[in-house]
Amino acid sequence: MRWAKLALAAVCGLVVIFNVFGAAANDAATTAGNGKILIAYYSYSGNTATLAREIQKQTGGDLFVITPVNSYPSNYQECLTQAKLEIDGGVKPELQANVADLAQYDTIFVGTPNWYGGVTPPVAAFLAANDLTGKKVIPFCTHGTGGEQKCLTGIAALTPNSDHAAGFAVAGNRLKGASVADTRAAVAEWLQKIGATK
Ligand SMILES: Cc1cc2nc3c(=O)[nH]c(=O)nc-3n(C[C@H](O)[C@H](O)[C@H](O)COP(=O)(O)O)c2cc1C
Repeated sequence: MRWAKLALAAVCGLVVIFNVFGAAANDAATTAGNGKILIAYYSYSGNTATLAREIQKQTGGDLFVITPVNSYPSNYQECLTQAKLEIDGGVKPELQANVADLAQYDTIFVGTPNWYGGVTPPVAAFLAANDLTGKKVIPFCTHGTGGEQKCLTGIAALTPNSDHAAGFAVAGNRLKGASVADTRAAVAEWLQKIGATK
């Protein structure tokens, strides 16, 4: 009898540990919001993450960080080289986690930095792995001196069975320093126009 009680206690302990770790893993991938809007993005050096968090603040959506299993080299030159190889080869890198219960979202903001004029491989992999048919997809991107090029249209092209609202693009350096207030106002104006403000 005593052994039976001990065994039961051990099983309960394992269940609790499992749940704690399960919850932690989900929390790391998705930040709770109003449950209908998802903001999924990849960011290598933080600019697109900053824009995604601003969209999250203004819409009340949930954030999902698209995270490749193998992160890109922290050395910028090496990252450029690897990115070029992957883009030219149409590589879809393996991603760490999936969105929990994608069905609950009807609007999905999808964000990418501009890499070689278009969508990053992690974002292309995310769009290939998730069926967004019938959902409203709203692209956003950050870029360098090249402008948005084919980032917004690229996201739309990779989601041909979705509805689309006008996207938003901004230079990464406008998310820092004195331009932040202007960018925040531009984001607010865009969200208002597409009817996504909370
Ligand atoms: C591999 C790589 C390729 C890039 N290619 C371009 C490009 O073709 N045109 C451009 O305007 N910016 C380019 N950039 C600059 C980024 O788009 C820009 O810094 C962006 O804001 C970075 O976003 P992140 O901080 O979210 O990664 C490139 C950056 C990297 C790392």
